[in-house]
Amino acid sequence: MDLQNFILLLSYLIGSITFIVGLKMLSHPDTARKGNLIAAAGMSIAIFATIFLYTFGAEEHLGNKLWIFGGLLIGTVVGTMMAKKVQMTAMPQMVSLFNGMGGACAAIISIVEFKHLQHAPKMLSIENLTNGIQFNLDQLPIEGFGQPEHAGLKLLTILLGLVIGTVSFSGSIIAFGKLNGNLKDRVLPAQQVINIGLLLVIVALLVIMVGGFTSLNPQYLFWALFAISVLYGVLFVMPIGGADMPVVISLLNSFTGVAAACGGFLYDNPVMLTGGILVGSAGTILTILMCKAMNRSLTNVIVGAFGGNAAGGGASGESGGSYKEISMSDTAVLMAYSKKVVIVPGYGLAVAQAQHTCHELEKVLDEKGVEVAYAIHPVAGRMPGHMNVLLAEADVSYDKLKEMEEINPEFAQTDVVLILGANDVVNPAAKNDPSSPIYGMPILEVEHAQHVIVNKRSMKPGYAGIENALFFQPKTSMLFGDAKKVLQDLVSELKNL
Ligand code: TAP
Repeated sequence: MDLQNFILLLSYLIGSITFIVGLKMLSHPDTARKGNLIAAAGMSIAIFATIFLYTFGAEEHLGNKLWIFGGLLIGTVVGTMMAKKVQMTAMPQMVSLFNGMGGACAAIISIVEFKHLQHAPKMLSIENLTNGIQFNLDQLPIEGFGQPEHAGLKLLTILLGLVIGTVSFSGSIIAFGKLNGNLKDRVLPAQQVINIGLLLVIVALLVIMVGGFTSLNPQYLFWALFAISVLYGVLFVMPIGGADMPVVISLLNSFTGVAAACGGFLYDNPVMLTGGILVGSAGTILTILMCKAMNRSLTNVIVGAFGGNAAGGGASGESGGSYKEISMSDTAVLMAYSKKVVIVPGYGLAVAQAQHTCHELEKVLDEKGVEVAYAIHPVAGRMPGHMNVLLAEADVSYDKLKEMEEINPEFAQTDVVLILGANDVVNPAAKNDPSSPIYGMPILEVEHAQHVIVNKRSMKPGYAGIENALFFQPKTSMLFGDAKKVLQDLVSELKNL
């Protein structure tokens, strides 16, 4: 191995290690930022090493440098601007969009490499397809797999990259639209049958193409596969709503990882493979955790079985009976004389950007000898770990954040629960209304506390679009207003006590 190749491989090794170390560091808020930077640095090393050191068989370097650097420049500028400008509440949409871009990249790789395959001599001709595809690997412009008998595997990898990347792209764009509020949940008649049917057509096309069981022009089949994958991605995400988007978002994330790993296989590129596998497996683990949190089975997610029309649980009306309000001063007194207060943060806290004021409230209560904890529901907010990120930004100590399983038994010994812009994650319909679209989702069982104070701006529903019976229970009092303003007033009331 010459020095150039050695340095290239070394940079891939460094890239792979930084991904693993970075991912590990992402698991704790204290180290997450650094972990992200380390992984990004590793990725940069791998990209520049490929651009400058990668050679084709005949010592030929990558061409098209102008295009490559033009793309890098545009991507860097656009990405940096978007990331700098994005509001904390729009982060989930942006993550979805970026995830979709990853899927699109993987699909484009497949499109380009399929074209390469076609232009390589003696391949994919109609005669060859009828006899099974015979590849002339020596003349293939892509590397990997090495042996002619693996040619079918190469085609399969290209096609899988196309399907998974495309589904991830179109699905993520729909998820972006839904999180952004531009698209509403839509369920077609016989949605499940259509989704399963499309999946079967995709599998059938894969088998036909890889097995060479047709005399049709492979290019037509390839574009048909692409179009059906786009459609499947759209129809798969479109009906999902209620409170089930978190599962889909993490599933799409894992799809992008798997699609990128297909590219890694195709190019025999270890760093792409490592990155893809890490994203794919981390996304899969997250999907399983989200499924558990939502009490859904993965099969249901894949066939798009849980529609999001807020059918049950009394739709978005305000018909649940009477509710009572509490004044700011009463809230302050109640909290000041409590032994234990649990704060339940939700999406509204992120909207109000009230995390810093919330931390201030915690400190004021702490000074008064009140024990304070935060109850974190796994799908509170609009992205996995949303509340953890939000509170970490305000330097809330990690020890004060309690996961749902840990905090639920503690509500019975809690004097006051203060719900800040959370709704679905405390909705008892998830436990006792089988017709509710969130039925079965584990919730924070706040009703066991002595007093429940809910801060939101109105009686409007949350993401799932359903009424919340908690607001009408005798123990519950509503404290209306924007979370930031309410918390600021509460802090000054408490300081004056
Ligand atoms: P939601 O159920 O969406 O409720 C948020 C509440 O915040 C709303 O009812 C809203 O009521 C209130 N609010 C909005 N702006 C506010 C402000 N400035 N000040 C005070 N309150 C404000 O939130 P949640 O309980 O966190 O549940 C999350 C939901 O999103 C779940 O259904 C979950 O499945 C879904 N989801 C989650 C994710 C992930 S991965 N976490 C992804 C997609 C979807 P008002 O309008 O009356 O103020």
